Amino acid sequence: MLQFRLVAGVCLLLGLVLLAQPALARVSGVCSNCHTMHNSQDGSVVDAGGPSANLLSDDCVGCHSRTDGVTIETVGSTRIPIVYNQSLPANPLAGGNFYWIAHDGGDAYGHNVYGISGVDGDLSTAPGSQVTGAGCVNCHSTLSSSDPANGCKGCHVPRHHADDSSVVVSSSGGWYRFLGDNPGMTPLTSNGVIGIEEEDWEQSASNINHNVYQGTTTLYGKSKATSTNSIGEFCAGCHGDFHHDMNESQPASVNGAWIRHPSDVVIPNSGEYADAFGLPDRDYNPMVPVAKSTALVDGDENFDSVTIASDVVTCISCHRPHGSPYPDMLRWDYSNDCDAGTANADCGCFSCHTAKD
Ligand code: HEC
Ligand code: HEC
Ligand code: HEC
Ligand code: HEC
Ligand code: HEC
Ligand code: HEC
Ligand code: HEC
Repeated sequence: MLQFRLVAGVCLLLGLVLLAQPALARVSGVCSNCHTMHNSQDGSVVDAGGPSANLLSDDCVGCHSRTDGVTIETVGSTRIPIVYNQSLPANPLAGGNFYWIAHDGGDAYGHNVYGISGVDGDLSTAPGSQVTGAGCVNCHSTLSSSDPANGCKGCHVPRHHADDSSVVVSSSGGWYRFLGDNPGMTPLTSNGVIGIEEEDWEQSASNINHNVYQGTTTLYGKSKATSTNSIGEFCAGCHGDFHHDMNESQPASVNGAWIRHPSDVVIPNSGEYADAFGLPDRDYNPMVPVAKSTALVDGDENFDSVTIASDVVTCISCHRPHGSPYPDMLRWDYSNDCDAGTANADCGCFSCHTAKD
């Protein structure tokens, strides 16, 4: 089903060639490590899946997968972030892992993505979506069709050669984690996601070693013409109602009652929230990330403690976009570990709802 066999070969070559080169964020190395001009070498095909766009020697899933549980494949100075392990991943990266949806859990444990799993058995569209129309239901209804713009590319607009060495990665760096504006949609606007990329993709995350996410307090609309470049707006691109209809006073304001859990909404300095993330330090907790509502600037990489009345709760505060060990790709065991009254540090809800622990 998948093309793992090439990874070993590609990486052996990468190792030989890249050892002497400085570590760069963008890909480096001789072209033939990753590209094949005719999908043919000594008369044999290079990628058994057939020749690919950009003349690549493997596909997205092939390069970013491993059969064991290693989540960063290190060869010389090159590191490939692994998002799909076929064995239990020891240290899953920030986005989580597709292991659980494919091997232990099932459809509810991640996005169903082409090359890894078939169409979701329960969900025939993205919950909360308001986008319909031929050509649009790809991505907006499923990420597991064989359309060349679907699968990983339904969310990522890859730009492996972009220079993402600046602290805050935006358009010129290929956007945060290639979460760029999707070419399948018109009009094209500056809708990519901005962020600060932790070097090890949060393989060993702590309060001083983590990605920094762009949030916002602007109530973004349902049209692609608006953009806050926040990671929440990216999720809402396919799950719109979960942001656009979270408060009974929307679209005018969020002054009414909450009818869905807020996202891109400030953690208030009042009530139980005044103790959020633990006084006196309020250490940033990578299990329960918050996003910055101010435009990210150089220096924000030192974001080690949460600022209430400014930082926001957002979609990825509770979810992992690739998948997790828990249903609804949640970051912690919500079904079992969040009993009110039972002290349980592993329930992320209590980081903000301090009086419910
Ligand atoms: C470590 C893997 C890797 C190496 C080494 C590599 N590339 Fe790429 N390249 C990619 C991937 C993956 C893409 C897929 C599309 C993208 O992300 O832009 C790509 C896309 C491209 C594209 C089309 C998109 C663009 O940015 O123009 C060209 C042209 C290209 N590579 C040329 C080269 C050349 C020339 C070399 C050698 C100097 C090279 N690549 C080395 C991985 C690599
Ligand atoms: C030939 C191998 C190869 C292929 C094919 C490939 N990638 Fe990558 N990809 C890499 C490497 C190596 C990196 C790490 C680059 C770095 O250090 O930033 C990477 C990084 C990434 C990242 C993280 C970028 C970041 O900011 O850290 C994403 C997202 C990604 N790839 C998505 C894709 C998608 C989607 C495809 C299919 C279109 C794809 N890749 C195909 C080798 C590959
Ligand atoms: C390109 C469209 C698209 C984007 C962007 C997107 N999703 Fe989804 N999402 C879907 C589709 C389609 C489904 C239903 C099928 C499936 O589970 O893959 C889904 C399902 C889900 C589910 C339910 C999983 C299940 O099977 O029960 C959750 C939770 C979710 N998405 C969260 C997110 C979060 C968080 C983000 C942002 C990081 C996000 N999504 C971004 C399309 C998208
Ligand atoms: C290749 C995948 C893909 C296809 C095909 C696609 N979209 Fe999207 N769409 C996305 C992603 C990813 C987002 C969120 C990020 C962004 O805005 O670029 C999004 C966001 C949107 C939004 C913003 C919604 C909001 O609530 O903020 C609208 C509107 C939209 N798409 C309409 C369409 C229409 C109409 C079509 C068909 C002409 C279409 N899309 C086809 C991937 C896709
Ligand atoms: C539903 C949208 C979505 C789909 C589909 C998706 N990704 Fe991602 N991916 C994300 C988001 C969002 C992040 C950023 C996670 C973070 O920083 O917290 C990410 C991060 C990454 C990274 C960086 C490592 C990490 O965990 O942060 C890589 C590499 C990557 N994706 C590759 C892939 C590949 C390969 C596929 C297809 C098998 C894929 N993605 C499918 C949304 C998606
Ligand atoms: C406070 C934590 C939290 C935040 C923030 C959050 N979610 Fe969820 N989400 C959950 C929980 C818990 C569930 C499980 C179902 C439930 O309790 O409603 C869920 C379920 C989902 C589902 C599956 C719904 C279904 O019908 O199966 C999707 C899709 C989803 N969330 C997307 C999002 C998006 C997009 C955002 C941001 C706009 C977001 N979530 C913000 C906690 C959260
Ligand atoms: C990162 C912080 C954060 C996390 C984590 C979080 N919440 Fe919230 N939650 C908020 C904020 C902020 C509000 C809105 C506060 C306000 O009224 O301005 C809110 C509101 C709510 C409300 C509505 C309260 C009301 O006044 O009507 C409920 C219920 C809720 N959250 C439950 C949960 C549950 C269950 C979880 C875990 C799945 C969770 N929250 C995780 C920050 C968080």
